[in-house]
Amino acid sequence: MSAIRPAAVVVLAAGEGTRMKSATPKVLHEICGRSLVGHVLAAARELAPENLVVVVGHAREKVTAHLSDIDPGVRTAVQEEQNGTGHAVRIALEQLGGGIDGTVVVVCGDTPLLTGATLSALAATHHTDGNAVTVLTAEVPDATGYGRIVRDETGAVTAIVEHKDATDAQRAIREINSGVFAFDGALLADALKKVRTDNSQGEEYLTDVLGILREAGHRVGASVAADHREIAGINNRVQLSEARRILNDRLLTAAMLSGVTVIDPATTWVDVTVAFGQDVTVHPGTQLHGSTRLGEGSEVGPNCRLKDTVVDAGARVDTTVSDGAHIGPNATVGPYAYLRPGTRLGAKGKIGTYVETKNAAIGEGSKVPHLSYVGDATIGEYTNIGAASVFVNYDGQAKYHTTVGSHCRTGSDNMFVAPVTVGDGAYTAAGSVITKDVPPGSLAVARGQQRNIEGWVARKRPGSAAAKAAEAASQQGESED
Ligand code: UD1
Ligand code: CA
Repeated sequence: MSAIRPAAVVVLAAGEGTRMKSATPKVLHEICGRSLVGHVLAAARELAPENLVVVVGHAREKVTAHLSDIDPGVRTAVQEEQNGTGHAVRIALEQLGGGIDGTVVVVCGDTPLLTGATLSALAATHHTDGNAVTVLTAEVPDATGYGRIVRDETGAVTAIVEHKDATDAQRAIREINSGVFAFDGALLADALKKVRTDNSQGEEYLTDVLGILREAGHRVGASVAADHREIAGINNRVQLSEARRILNDRLLTAAMLSGVTVIDPATTWVDVTVAFGQDVTVHPGTQLHGSTRLGEGSEVGPNCRLKDTVVDAGARVDTTVSDGAHIGPNATVGPYAYLRPGTRLGAKGKIGTYVETKNAAIGEGSKVPHLSYVGDATIGEYTNIGAASVFVNYDGQAKYHTTVGSHCRTGSDNMFVAPVTVGDGAYTAAGSVITKDVPPGSLAVARGQQRNIEGWVARKRPGSAAAKAAEAASQQGESED
């Protein structure tokens, strides 16, 4: 492996991507939780290159900022004007200090499906065959727009001809240039000096290097990709969605082969960064994003959207939106729950239906089963929060914390006006507005006394259906006496 470790990988990403019709540069569009260029860099990193250079041009401030975010080890080379792929590589080599010894791999920034394995295979072929250049090619059903691979009668590659410059006979060729190459660095630098611009686009074509090296008597090779879909470049949003589907399928296939049940791959979407334990079940309509991890035997879905969320072993999450939450082992969440950042649910705990939580630690075995908001709170173990409770954390200016102890039973329709503490083992009455601390083991009652005004309906609503019903009830009461 070390023998074929490239001296550099050059990623071409200076183009505008006009056909995306977007304010966002093409290579920053995302599929499966990673930018297009991010996918290419991840594949490139598998080669462990000594240098990784991205050629930037269009919207380079945005692209450069993104690159330093995702891979600070990347160097950038600025191509002020996009004078062609050959020109772009020339600028990258200048950034590296001119001619470079060893292998230089060139890839495009808009081919997110390209794998590290394919790049490694290309580098290996290049090395074993002792080539000056090896191009990754593919047989495609429709070669329109691509550079065609021209071979002689012995099958040796003689040139790459761009679609716009090709003859009718050449356009019939279905083997295309993927835009991925391995070069001998020194020969590449030399050949790039000889590339001309006398073509239909008036550009310096990197592809011309093949013919130049061949005419100088060097070995030119090709490696045919096993799956042509892997090398597809993204030019518009239709291709973007197709690539997302393919990558998503790849990720789900890997998950299933590692022991995850995916009920409906067609409606399940995952990011590359999501991790699964064994015997996880994912139900339809589920989207898993960011650093989400599903623990062994957990069950998620249907209809969940989880971002940066940890679901521990055996937990069950149904119809839930969650961002930045940690769901403990064997806990249950949903249906219809909204977990916001800082939610921590303990083992065997429950966050039920129409419950929203934020910055809330809910201890082992504790339950918030129905219709509640729990924000900025600590709840101990084996406590039950009554239905329709609100942790009133905001006075319009600042947020305050509520603490509820262990083994508490709070009544339905409580307001906990923070900052406030309910001690261990305490009870609160239904309908209470808790504004003062509740000592451990007490019952807090904080609501108006009930007053019944007898005969009010007969006096104020005479002849109404309510009055008649009341009258009938009182007569029945009398006859029963
Ligand atoms: C290129 C190839 C073509 C191949 C196809 C594969 C050339 C001349 N043609 O064509 O043989 O079949 O890719 O997708 O190489 N770029 C720069 N600077 C430039 C020009 C391009 O950085 O001056 C970058 C683009 O951002 C893009 C990549 O190089 O990532 C390819 O450029 P593009 O214009 O898309 O080339 P194609 O016409 O598709
Ligand atoms: Ca292209």
